[in-house]
Amino acid sequence: MTLPETMRVVEITKPGAPDVLQSAEANVPHPRYGEVLIKLAYAGVNRPDALQRAGLYDPPKGASPLPGLEGAGTVAALGEGVSGLSVGDEVCALLPGGGYAEYVRTAAAHCLPVPKGLSMAQAAALPETFFTVYSNVIMRGGLQAGERFLVHGGSSGIGTTAIQLAKTLGARVFTTAGSDDKCVACKSLGAEQAINYREADFVEIIKQEGGANLILDMVGGDYLPRNVRALADDGRLVQIAFLQSPKVELNFAQLMVRRLTITGSTLRPQSDLAKARIADALREHVWPLIGSGAIAPVMDSEFALEDAAKAHAHMESSTHIGKIVLKVA
Ligand SMILES: NC(=O)c1ccc[n+]([C@@H]2O[C@H](COP(=O)([O-])OP(=O)(O)OC[C@H]3O[C@@H](n4cnc5c(N)ncnc54)[C@H](OP(=O)(O)O)[C@@H]3O)[C@@H](O)[C@H]2O)c1
Repeated sequence: MTLPETMRVVEITKPGAPDVLQSAEANVPHPRYGEVLIKLAYAGVNRPDALQRAGLYDPPKGASPLPGLEGAGTVAALGEGVSGLSVGDEVCALLPGGGYAEYVRTAAAHCLPVPKGLSMAQAAALPETFFTVYSNVIMRGGLQAGERFLVHGGSSGIGTTAIQLAKTLGARVFTTAGSDDKCVACKSLGAEQAINYREADFVEIIKQEGGANLILDMVGGDYLPRNVRALADDGRLVQIAFLQSPKVELNFAQLMVRRLTITGSTLRPQSDLAKARIADALREHVWPLIGSGAIAPVMDSEFALEDAAKAHAHMESSTHIGKIVLKVA
């Protein structure tokens, strides 16, 4: 495959509102040891991209300053030491950054095949949410069949993935969302109850069911003490973001008396090895479920790469249900 020297990208010109995202030209990156270069067909848009754009989430050392944590396309070049992938293979991949571009480099171990029957747009919508949900709900949160699982932000990219994965595992799934339409969508994905948090208190509803064995939360703020109240004895709370606030007053005696666990993680700064282990687990346990049609990414909308600012404005309007992607090629 002949590679051009330069490529179209969308860069963050300065921290700020969506319109700081501007089209530009940049050099095509070279894959390093253990990496591949991917010619992207689609890139996924995630809330962490918006945080990075706003100056609230710096890329880790060595990562591209361009936004974009996931994508799907064709392997265009191989770095030294790569085996098991060839130029021309169709892959979707978790990216350290740089996905708002025609070409991106990433660890070969963070690539997964495009699941059978999925379009490139759908495949681009998988990695960031599936790596995050699997590692936090299954590996960290230890969700088991039959347990009561509550996920907040049920209509988000993360939420729509978590509902489906937990349901397929045999858990009872409860969720919260900000409108009745979103609640209907969450139920159609397998949630037993979807609570419109603007109208009802999730704590009372979950407690009536016996409390949640596991909660996946991205809201924080006053949800922290309320989540603690909503947990069953021995329950676990996994925190993956703080859309409200990371600071709150909390009575920790509850943790002791009811043997609760509060934990959390963020994906991007983790080691290449840790991400490769998540990729291996997804390949073995989740990709067959996607290939069989048991789980599918929920697609909200598609924008051209050059319209990344419109995609971010749409995401921040919180009117979307599921994933937003950028068409690159
Ligand atoms: N830890 C990690 O590694 C990791 C990785 C990826 C994403 N994340 C985080 O996970 C979250 C979801 O990401 P995403 O890409 O799926 O984003 P998204 O689709 O934009 O979802 C954000 C959701 O949060 C809800 N929301 C926003 N503000 C809220 C508030 N104040 N109270 C309650 N709900 C609120 C919104 O819908 P409604 O309010 O209408 O229900 C929306 O569904 C983000 O916070 C992101 O930063 C963490």
